[in-house]
Amino acid sequence: MTQSSPELPTPGAPGPFGHKLRKSFLFPENFTQFNHGSFGTFPKVVQDAMIAYHQHAEKDPDRWMRRELKPALTKIREELAELIHCDKDDLALVTNTTAGVNTILRSLQFQPGDRILQLSTGYISVEKTVRYISDSHDDVKVIDVPITFPLTGQEILHKVEQAILAHKQLNDGSRIRLAMVDWISSVPSILHPVKPLVELLQSHGILVFVDGAHSIGQVHVDLNDLHPDFYITNCHKWLFSVRGSAVLYVPRRHQHLIHPTSITADYKTGFEAEFSWAGTQDYSSLMSISSAIAFRKQFGEDAIIGYTHALAIQGGKIVADILGSNSLTPDDHQVANMVNIRLPLNNVDHPKATVQYFMDTLMDRYNIYTPTFKHGGQWWTRVSAQIYLELDDFVRLGNIWKEVIDELNTE
Ligand SMILES: Cc1ncc(COP(=O)(O)O)c(C=O)c1O
Repeated sequence: MTQSSPELPTPGAPGPFGHKLRKSFLFPENFTQFNHGSFGTFPKVVQDAMIAYHQHAEKDPDRWMRRELKPALTKIREELAELIHCDKDDLALVTNTTAGVNTILRSLQFQPGDRILQLSTGYISVEKTVRYISDSHDDVKVIDVPITFPLTGQEILHKVEQAILAHKQLNDGSRIRLAMVDWISSVPSILHPVKPLVELLQSHGILVFVDGAHSIGQVHVDLNDLHPDFYITNCHKWLFSVRGSAVLYVPRRHQHLIHPTSITADYKTGFEAEFSWAGTQDYSSLMSISSAIAFRKQFGEDAIIGYTHALAIQGGKIVADILGSNSLTPDDHQVANMVNIRLPLNNVDHPKATVQYFMDTLMDRYNIYTPTFKHGGQWWTRVSAQIYLELDDFVRLGNIWKEVIDELNTE
C-alpha cells in the first residue's frame, strides 16, 4: 500500500465505499464485477440521466438537435476541461478511444520516410490502426519497441530512448513522426511513466499521442502539465458515464491538422464546429458524462482514486497469496486500479489453458469474470478494483481462481 492510501473499510465498517455502494449500480444480487476495466459500468443515477436526455430529445427532435445539443455538448466539455485541466476548446467528444485514435491517425498527413513508434504492450486495435496507416501509405513504417514486464518505469524509458537512438543511427533520411504511448496499458495493465515518456519523445521532435483509455477516473489527469500532442480517454470506463462516451484532446497548435473520421457539412469550419456534429445519432451517452461527474463529486476524486488504488494493491496481494503466486509489478507505483496476478500453472502449455476455457469456467461455474492473458511465458489474470468492492471480494476471487488452477494442476 502506498503511503498516501487511505484505510480500507473492513466488511460492514463505516465509510462511503464498498458493498453499500452496490445498490447504486445495476448489478444483480448474485454477481460481483471484477472486470470494470474492459467495458466499465455506470451508476443508476447516470443511467437515469441518460434516459431523461433520450426522452427529452424525442419530445421535440428538431429543438434538441438544432438548438439545444451544441450548447449541451459545450457544457460537458467545460466540465471535463475543469477535471482534466485544459481548455474546453481543445476537447472534442467522441464515442470511444478507438474512434479517437482513428481520428488522429487518419487525419495526419504522413509522408514517405515517416515512422510511427509504438510499444508492444499497446492496445491491439490501436496497434492495428497504426499498421493500417503503414499499409496504406508509401514508406511509412512502424517501429515496435518490445516490452516484457516486470520492468521498471526507468527501464521502459531506457528502451524507448534506445529505440530512438537506434533509429537515428540508421541515418537513412527517415524520421520518427509520431509515438503512441499508453498511460495505463490494458493487458498487462501497467501504469506507465507517462510524463517522462512525453518529455523524452518530444525532446527528440516526435509528436506524442497518449492513449489514456483507462486514465480519467483512475488517475489524476492534468493536461496542462502533461502537454501531450494528442490524448484520448474513455469516460465510459472509469468515470462512470454510459458506454459510447470519450473525450479527445487536440491542443490548438495541432487543430488545423485534425478532422473527424466522418466528414460532415461542417468540414473546415473550425475544430469545435467539426466535432460538435457527428451526423444524426443518439447523443445521450455523451450527455451522461455530466451526471457521472456529479456522482463522483459527492465523494471527491482524491477519495475515489485513493480507495480504488489501495484496494487494487491490497486485494491483489490477497489473491496472489491465496494462489501462492505474485503480482506482475512488484512496484506498487506501476499499479493504478488494475492488478495482474500470475496463474501458477505447473504446465503453462496445459492444453486446456486458453482464454476461452478460463472465461467459460469463470462465467459458467462461478458467475464472475477476470480477463486472462499470456505474457512473458506465463498466464496472468487482470483484476479491477472499484468503489463497490471490498477486500473480502478478493478473498472469494482468490479462492475461485485457486480451485480452477488446482484442478488443472492435478489433471
Ligand atoms: C489501452 C486501451 N486503448 C484503447 C482501448 C479501446 O477502447 P474502446 O473499446 O472504448 O474504443 C482500450 C479498451 O479497453 C484500452 O484498454
